[in-house]
Amino acid sequence: MSTVNYVKCFLRDKNVASITPTSPFGVKRVCKKIDFTQANVIVEYGPGAGVFTEYLLKKMRPSAHLVLIERNKDMFKCLTKAFRNERVHIFNDSVENVGALVNGQLPGKPDYIISGIPFSYLDQQTRQEIIHQTHQILAENGKFLAYQTFYQKDDHLFVHLEHFFRNVKSEFELLNIPPMRIYEAVK
Ligand SMILES: C[S@@+](CC[C@H](N)C(=O)[O-])C[C@H]1O[C@@H](n2cnc3c(N)ncnc32)[C@H](O)[C@@H]1O
Repeated sequence: MSTVNYVKCFLRDKNVASITPTSPFGVKRVCKKIDFTQANVIVEYGPGAGVFTEYLLKKMRPSAHLVLIERNKDMFKCLTKAFRNERVHIFNDSVENVGALVNGQLPGKPDYIISGIPFSYLDQQTRQEIIHQTHQILAENGKFLAYQTFYQKDDHLFVHLEHFFRNVKSEFELLNIPPMRIYEAVK
C-alpha cells in the first residue's frame, strides 16, 4: 500500500491508530521472539499495510500458514492483492470474532499471535474478551506478541494479559514513530 493510501486510511478510520506503519526496527524487535523453525501457524491481528506480513512470510517455513485479520476494508483489499499466496488466509473482520473465525479453519492451533490493534480504544470488557479468546485459541506454550504506543497504561493491556497468561513481559523499542511498547505473553 502506498504512503498516500495509508495516510488516507488513517484519516478516515480512527482504528488505524498510527500515522505510519511500524518501522523495520519495530518489526524485527517483535519478530525476534518467534522461533521460525518451530512455528506452524501464525495469526496477525490488524496487519494494516502488511509490514509484519512481508517479514513473517520471508522467515516462516514453507509449510507454515499465516492468518491475517483486518477490519479496515481498504487495507483488506490491498492485503488480498499484495499477498496472493496459498499459505496466507485473510479475513475482513474484527478480532473480537477471532474465536469463531478460526474455529476449525486452521491446520493447527496458532503458535504465535501478533497484534497491532489499538487496545486503548476498546472498553475493558472488549479487551478482556479479545485476550480471553486469544489465550483459548493459542497452542500450549504459544505466545501472544502485542505492540502499542509507548505511553499505554498498564490497564489497557498489561493487567489483562497477566490475568490470562502464565508469563508476561514488556519492553520498549525507541526506533519507531512513536516509540512502541512490546508485550510478550506466554500461555
Ligand atoms: C496501528 S495499525 C498497525 C498496522 C500494522 N500492523 C503495522 O504494524 O504497521 C492497527 C491496525 O489494526 C487494524 N484494526 C484495528 N482494530 C481492529 C480490530 N478490532 N480487528 C481487526 N483489525 C483491527 C487497523 O485497521 C489497522 O490496520
